[in-house]
Amino acid sequence: MTEPEQLRTTLRSHQAGALRRDHAGTHVRIAGWVHRSRDLGGILFLDLRDRAGIVQVSFDPRFTPADQQAVAAGVGIESVVLIEGEVVARPSEKHNPEMATGEVEVHAISIRVVGPAATPAIPVALGRGDKLPSEELRLRYRYLDLRRPELRDSLMLRHRLLQRARRHLSERGFLEIETPILTRPTPEGARDYLVPSRVHPGQFYALPQSPQLYKQLLMISGFDRYFQLARCFRDEDLRADRQPEFTQIDIEASFITQDDIFTLGETLVAALWDEAGIRIETPFQRLTYADAMNRYGTDKPDVRYGLELFDASDVFREVEFGITKSALEKGWRVRGIRIPGGAAWSRKQVDELEALAKGAGVGGVLRLTRVNGALGGQHAKFLDPSAADRLELAEGDLCLLAAAAEKSSSAALDRVRQEAASRLGLARADDHRFLWVTSFPLFARNPDGSLASEHHPFTAPDPADLDKLESDPDAVRSLAYDAVYNGMELSSGSIRISDPVLQRRVFARLGIDEEDARARFGFLLEGLRAGAPPHGGVAFGFDRIAMLLAGGTSLRDVIAFPKTAAARAMFEDAPSEVPAADLEALHLHSGDTH
Ligand code: AMO
Repeated sequence: MTEPEQLRTTLRSHQAGALRRDHAGTHVRIAGWVHRSRDLGGILFLDLRDRAGIVQVSFDPRFTPADQQAVAAGVGIESVVLIEGEVVARPSEKHNPEMATGEVEVHAISIRVVGPAATPAIPVALGRGDKLPSEELRLRYRYLDLRRPELRDSLMLRHRLLQRARRHLSERGFLEIETPILTRPTPEGARDYLVPSRVHPGQFYALPQSPQLYKQLLMISGFDRYFQLARCFRDEDLRADRQPEFTQIDIEASFITQDDIFTLGETLVAALWDEAGIRIETPFQRLTYADAMNRYGTDKPDVRYGLELFDASDVFREVEFGITKSALEKGWRVRGIRIPGGAAWSRKQVDELEALAKGAGVGGVLRLTRVNGALGGQHAKFLDPSAADRLELAEGDLCLLAAAAEKSSSAALDRVRQEAASRLGLARADDHRFLWVTSFPLFARNPDGSLASEHHPFTAPDPADLDKLESDPDAVRSLAYDAVYNGMELSSGSIRISDPVLQRRVFARLGIDEEDARARFGFLLEGLRAGAPPHGGVAFGFDRIAMLLAGGTSLRDVIAFPKTAAARAMFEDAPSEVPAADLEALHLHSGDTH
């Protein structure tokens, strides 16, 4: 907490929103915005708002000179005023329990309008039941939107979280080191934002998708423990939990193993949640990627509830039903989920679940139920009645099954599982479940079948799988890990490759030949040959953490000046066209931009 004396300035003795009963009898000079005003027959009340909150100021002929009363009567809302007066305790029947300052008011002696306001384009003071303006308007008039107490509180929490992260890491020997913003492309899998160079015609800087290569180089240089509250830039499709520029708590350390990173990450997360007043349990649960996909259909499972997926292939082996039969013949599995009480859902409700599954790539789902002990549902006729027991259906269960390739059935059943949990109210907001998902595959497949990095190309393969790097790359696990919180990815990280020979082998599998590797990552390869310690790290999505802890639903709730879903800055109106002469200077031509 900042001491009140430190907030005193030449123009202000106290923060308006910080006045309390103890201040009664004090002569104060306060300053801020007129939040509301009302005239109660000769006595005028202004609510004065500053960063600390709102206090009621009264202008009464008994203590306010007439000329000052007239100024107060003429001041528009959201104008900035300086007020001098005396803090007075309100009689107990006039306490306002909804305001922190509700036991006092200020009797004004003088008022000066220092920042008159035009009629605000969007309201700041909202009454009970008033709807928020549209998000587009709120972003267009962000300076007004930011005056609302909710956004102010979120940004104040964000500040505290940033300071806590800094302190926590700094106390553990991590050095905060800044890395360049104008840099080379960094491979995190998104498109780069490029910046043309004026001095070097035809050449471009890239904005960093993350400080990945720099933090590894810092380990090679011997800094041992690094962190940065790093701004990252990615030109990708946006969602509520993605912004084109965002902040990571970026960490790298030497002479560590996965366990060291897990312990460090857990204490950091516990400290951040503590800052928001929430105690969490450590250590976090651990789950391999293979188990996560098998049991939940996703690598970021919400484990606040069960509803685990199961394999029903054996029940369908002898069943003469075209869909499951052909799927099993292709080597696919029949996987499903049991939803307690779902047997009572209407056809429409189940159709909606099926639509979600279809959207995730399966042709449809099979529907079974158990009611009064018996197998029921649309597809019961294909099965022997004993299937109810073999599928372990409990009374009232709805069972939905997908016979499809693993990737599609996982995605489909994950969607169904989440929707069912939300309908059943199983995901409680006050339940905080963290886990580390480990042993990710080293490679993913591009649509054309070629290999890509699942994480990024500097992630170390699991030493146990090194012999399969060339012969069976899909089976190679990596030393990559994600921290997951209630179904959301909080962080990603890995132990890195510190051996240049192994790094080249991995590049080769990714189709990056020697020359290409030298051109793109030469500086890293050179560094690895200069004596590289074993090292690894992690990056937490800081905006996501702030959003979760502020109780927001969009990253825009915790970023002062965010972009829209179309990556546009509404207030500054960026991106924007630039004069032809500026393009010329950058060796670009306006015709080329279309
Ligand atoms: P990764 O790309 O997984 O890893 O990013 C780490 C974390 O950053 C957050 N995040 C985002 N937050 C908001 N908007 C976005 N567009 C966005 N993209 C990612 C997520 C994610 O878990 N260099 C590696 C880390 C490492 O290996 O140390 C990296 O950047 O919470």
